[in-house]
Amino acid sequence: MDFSTKKAQPETVRTACVVVPAFRGGKLSEAAKRIDRHGRGQLTRALKNSEFDGAPGTNLMLLDVAGVGAARVLLIGAGKDGQLNVADFRKVMHSALRRLCTAGIGDATLFISEIGVSARDEQWLATQIATLAVEAAYRFDVMKSEADGSGSKQLGRLVLGTGSAPSRRQQAALARGRAVGQGVNLARDLGNLPPNICTPDYLARRAREMGRLNRLRVNVLDVADMEKLKMGALLAVARGSRQPARLIAIEHRGGPAKQKPVVLVGKGVTFDTGGISLKPSAEMDEMKYDMSGAGSVFGTMYAVSAMKMPLNVVGLIPATENMPDGQATRPGDIVTSMSGKTIEILNTDAEGRLILCDALTYAERYDPAAVIDIATLTGACVIALGKVATGLFTPDDKLASEILDAGENTWDRAWRMPVWDDYQDQLKSNFADVANIGGRPAGSVTAACFLARFAKKFRWAHLDIAGTAWKSGKEKGSTGRPVALLTQFLMNRAGW
Ligand code: BES
Ligand code: MN
Ligand code: ZN
Repeated sequence: MDFSTKKAQPETVRTACVVVPAFRGGKLSEAAKRIDRHGRGQLTRALKNSEFDGAPGTNLMLLDVAGVGAARVLLIGAGKDGQLNVADFRKVMHSALRRLCTAGIGDATLFISEIGVSARDEQWLATQIATLAVEAAYRFDVMKSEADGSGSKQLGRLVLGTGSAPSRRQQAALARGRAVGQGVNLARDLGNLPPNICTPDYLARRAREMGRLNRLRVNVLDVADMEKLKMGALLAVARGSRQPARLIAIEHRGGPAKQKPVVLVGKGVTFDTGGISLKPSAEMDEMKYDMSGAGSVFGTMYAVSAMKMPLNVVGLIPATENMPDGQATRPGDIVTSMSGKTIEILNTDAEGRLILCDALTYAERYDPAAVIDIATLTGACVIALGKVATGLFTPDDKLASEILDAGENTWDRAWRMPVWDDYQDQLKSNFADVANIGGRPAGSVTAACFLARFAKKFRWAHLDIAGTAWKSGKEKGSTGRPVALLTQFLMNRAGW
């Protein structure tokens, strides 16, 4: 999708659809009034006869408004006076953009300078709009023999109309917003792909392809490499699968050579049956999303490289299936992780932490400035925070506030949970250094506490996205979270 800014007037601009705000009670914005004047009161009359009342999230599409250049006028509800909070602003833009997409409109021009969001500037607005537009245009139909709505035009061009000369900063903000949206959509694509296609090796091939197209350095370790590194925990999970495991490293070197990188570690379980501790069959198909942490690392690495961010960033993806099999790891097995610590695997369904702990140890070799792991790690996190907030776990207050801020900024929000040592007792094993489960109380916290034991050598945070990475029910599908949060976190680190 193409984004630009343009000095123009709503009544004369050449575009398929001109988008202008209206406020509560059907009050027209200045931009809408200009159209109304040229159309001899057609907007005012249409408003009188409709239920549209300017509430955020409602729109009114008008065709053939006399005296106006554009074939269509979309009135968008902007609340009482256009001064919105972030949630309402996103609602306004999301519904407007959805409307443009479903109406098959190829290009639109927005005159929305009368919409403001408290404590957010023009650049923020431009970035959000571009991200939301790319997200709104998303479709996942590669697996359908006939694409839904094929033939209807795709929204290909969005213009921000301004009264004054367009600014370069706004143009840059639009480009960054687009890169975030594309990163989000890449994460969604990978999440939505079925588990018979999106295997560990498929992820490795996609990483290599992305590396070629976006000048990222990609290195893939296979099972023999991991055996040499003594990644006994990761390999214990992979044992039950016919699909060979992979450890994928994607490097963006945008910063000075000596700058320590931020390392993102994404859980890449391409299907989680639970292994011998088999899951119940209801909704087991959703366990194809158990590679969403990996997907978010792909999406973020894409965005970072598309923006040419001046920062060193490494993405690490341990990728495997978790399957039951004659060769599979048993509950009670004890394995030695790459760190040398032994782990009693009491439940083979707590596999995420087993692959992550070896990936965390592997991350040491990058001498990281900070490590953030992203994982659909626990059902307990869904119980604690639902589908709204991602669980944030870190002993590092400074890192916590950086991550929370990035989430607040992008409305891809996280909420902090404790990783206190008091919980470590629950992971005691009679037979090994640590057990891989800590019982039912505080399940998402003990999972984080398990990881903390392998993250002593660097600043570290863990994001549990079990609730936020996908939606169930009618709108079933991957959300692409937390690509926006992660990219913003990195942008802030780059000083942008
Ligand atoms: N991938 C699951 C976590 C999960 C569950 C994500 C539901 C999204 C929705 C993870 O591997 C898992 O199975 N965790 C177990 C841990 C337990 C055995 C300690 C869980 O949450 O039940
Ligand atoms: Mn599991
Ligand atoms: Zn899992």
